[in-house]
Amino acid sequence: MKKDNRKQKKKRPKILIIHGPNLHMLGKREVQTYGKFTLSELNEELEIIAGENNIALATFQSNSEGKIVDKITNSDFDFLIINPAAYTHTSVALRDAILTRQLPAIEVHISNTFKREDFRKKSLISDVVLGVITGLGKLSYISALQAAISLLKK
Ligand code: DQA
Repeated sequence: MKKDNRKQKKKRPKILIIHGPNLHMLGKREVQTYGKFTLSELNEELEIIAGENNIALATFQSNSEGKIVDKITNSDFDFLIINPAAYTHTSVALRDAILTRQLPAIEVHISNTFKREDFRKKSLISDVVLGVITGLGKLSYISALQAAISLLKK
């Protein structure tokens, strides 16, 4: 049998970042809580970090619970970073979608949800992900991405 000498190109690991409802309004929405940066500025920064680390990055924002479930269950990725926003506190559907994929995930929040109203202290997501980063503003996402990259490189 002939040996296949073509070098097999190694596929870059893929990280999916999901932004939940109302995060398309970043920069305009409650700036004292969420900061002045926009979603596209945030995504651009994340894409630069991913590019420097040879990671394929996909970002997705939706206000619709069903669309987020579809994204989690139907797309190809190795690691999920998710800010489920208001669905954090209500969505069994998102929790189940994350459980369905059995892939590593980090939950992020821009604000410190523990410093806010009582209903934000409860997350239906936290116990089905590897870890949670909350309250660091834009740095919550950047830290989550750096952690995901380190874990994927292990
Ligand atoms: C949030 C916190 C949630 O309680 C809130 O509903 C959001 C944003 C955050 O990033 O701080 O929409 O997830």
